[in-house]
Amino acid sequence: MSVARTPLVAGNWKMHKTVTEAEEFIQGLLPRVSTSEGVEVAICPAFTALQAMVDSTRGSRVQVFAQTMHQAGHGAFTGEVSAAMLTELDVHGVILGHSERRELFGETDKALALKVPAALEAGLVPILCVGETDEERERGDTERKLRHQIQEGLSKVQAAEIPRVVIAYEPIWAIGTGKVASVEQAQEAAGFIRALVADRSAEQAEHVRVLYGGSVKAQNARELLALPDVDGALVGGASLEAESFAAIVAAAG
Ligand code: PGA
Repeated sequence: MSVARTPLVAGNWKMHKTVTEAEEFIQGLLPRVSTSEGVEVAICPAFTALQAMVDSTRGSRVQVFAQTMHQAGHGAFTGEVSAAMLTELDVHGVILGHSERRELFGETDKALALKVPAALEAGLVPILCVGETDEERERGDTERKLRHQIQEGLSKVQAAEIPRVVIAYEPIWAIGTGKVASVEQAQEAAGFIRALVADRSAEQAEHVRVLYGGSVKAQNARELLALPDVDGALVGGASLEAESFAAIVAAAG
């Protein structure tokens, strides 16, 4: 029996939007997504705008996610935030292992193996990002890379908790490049990721949401979101304007 998974469309703002700009955006977004049934909507602002966005979205259908967090509960980690600091703000979840965190800030699979269970334990929904570089795809190493990232990322997650994890397949060559994966590539990778999760627990894998990310726009969202193993999108550039983000949400509904 196939399991119905509620699609999730999450906007990763990266290092964009001050509090003032975020407030302006949310006033434009809320009326545009108020009627989108059957889809979860999330924005992922910078730390500085989290509290304002939680307050401004209260009672709406829009969830607020952070873009990263540290695995430890507290400690001498200058510049970092813990899961408890996020849940105290009423943040719903957190992106973990985005390729920019991995490439530019040295986030490792070893740290992610601790971050995913730490987020779950705090009651946050983790979006674990995985994906291959251009060279890895050319070399035929896509599956090996995904296998390693998924196995490490889920290694310390209890089987019963697996359905709460969201996995975002984000081919690095498609992020911010305007080069979107073909529907065949996106489905193949998302299906492969689900099969990897099934190695841990076949039953739980049916519940895990696998998002696609990488140059998702209003124009290509519908075909990507219709794929059998794609349960939503992680959107960068096109999430910065309320109109284009709402159009992607509408394509998922
Ligand atoms: P993009 O970014 O939509 O701008 O390609 C996606 C992401 O980095 O999550």
